[in-house]
Amino acid sequence: MRKLPDGLQVGVATAAFQIEGGWNASDKSPSIWDTYSHIPGKIKDGTDGNDTCKSYEYYLRDIKMLKFLGVSFYRFSISWPRVLPSGFSNKISEDGIGYYSRFVDELLANGIEPVVTMYHWDLPQSLQDLGGWANPLIADWFEDYARVLYKTLGDRVKTWITLNEPKQFLIHGYGMNRFAPDIVSPGIGDYMAVKNALLAHARAWHLYDKEYREKQKGTIGITIATDFREGASDSPADIEAGNIAMDFEVGFYSHPIFSSTGGFPERMIKRIGDKSAEQGFPRSRLPELSQKEIEFIKGTSDFYGFNHYSTKFYTMDKYKNGTFPVPSYEDDMGVVGDYGNYELAPIIHTTKIPKGIRKALNWVKDKYNNPQVLITENGYGNFGGVDDFDRIDYYSDYIDAILDAIEVDGCNVKTFTAWSLMDNFEWDSGLTPKFGLFAVDFEDEKRTRKARLSALWYKNLIADRTLGSADETEFEEILF
Ligand code: BGC
Repeated sequence: MRKLPDGLQVGVATAAFQIEGGWNASDKSPSIWDTYSHIPGKIKDGTDGNDTCKSYEYYLRDIKMLKFLGVSFYRFSISWPRVLPSGFSNKISEDGIGYYSRFVDELLANGIEPVVTMYHWDLPQSLQDLGGWANPLIADWFEDYARVLYKTLGDRVKTWITLNEPKQFLIHGYGMNRFAPDIVSPGIGDYMAVKNALLAHARAWHLYDKEYREKQKGTIGITIATDFREGASDSPADIEAGNIAMDFEVGFYSHPIFSSTGGFPERMIKRIGDKSAEQGFPRSRLPELSQKEIEFIKGTSDFYGFNHYSTKFYTMDKYKNGTFPVPSYEDDMGVVGDYGNYELAPIIHTTKIPKGIRKALNWVKDKYNNPQVLITENGYGNFGGVDDFDRIDYYSDYIDAILDAIEVDGCNVKTFTAWSLMDNFEWDSGLTPKFGLFAVDFEDEKRTRKARLSALWYKNLIADRTLGSADETEFEEILF
């Protein structure tokens, strides 16, 4: 029976597009995910995000669920096109901002701290029409949007996350036809978008730092998908394959912000530079960061926002030319990984490999001088059922490994956030995968929620601050 260390706060997370619904309520304009999910064939199960959990309508119920769990904070995101229907800050939607303002007030009245993600992938379609993250002016637009949020909510919101998982929305959105906006420009457009997103993030951080921090006294950072990547064996080639994968998948975003030198990881600069030359490009497809840009981005996160689900094991041997398009991110990386001998989870990217989270936390600690870490997401996906022993098992083992990272290794972890409060719209997979502590009945007009066993277990974890066993958790039918 392991105790949670004092000072480790426990919460849950969601994101606007995945739970809100109300896709065209009031003056909200479409986001790129509205557009994308309306194209037949794009979402694997044929669903869309029009209504999802109907949190826009029934938000007070979500707060009751949070209260029931006893969480100290709630991480949710703001829909940019709900607040700024044109995408630009010339006109703020009263209904849009009013919704979030009431929501924040209600959280605080219930003793729950808001942790707000400014961008969890739902760009206004109007800005996408102008190039979205591939247009360098996105840094202006994002800074303007950030200012609106600081001005309207910053008196009450004390933890801001600029971008959620740049890799997922940029590499999948601009390099592979997997995510909105479905721009397929592998090894070119995706890299342009990464550079612009890093600059946009840094602009929002500097703005807060210069104009708002003193008065509002909050913190602001970025969340990076930090799944672990390591060599499939101890051979030097495989170890290097793991390092290359870690640089491409994580370091691309973390190195410019958290390292003492700044800039993109050397391995990436070299590999993409060499391949670009071989392929006849007059310059590297990886856009350069000028010294001024490197300095501007460096140090722009008050904490390391850490999302983690699983670990992959990499090797160079299995990589075959022709497996991936040329040029592309995967071809530039030039190594392939899988989940090794582990038993695959129903939602494969949540395959349970708890020692990987400890390694990933140590990687952050060692590389970036032990920054403060907020674990902003961790969770397990399956296909439903309220007796979710598998989910409890996953959480128990991961939290146990996190406690080792804190207590044995000295990692500076301040929060743990379960993904997710409830089942929701899982991007290109639609409503089929289930990640919720609460099950949502998507057939029911009201989207009634039912506490899973894991919700009851998590509630006990928070109340007792003890990592209890699933068998001792008593199931009761609790509906919201
Ligand atoms: C994202 C969430 C997503 C979760 C589970 C993360 O990559 O931030 O939006 O639902 O993983 O796949």
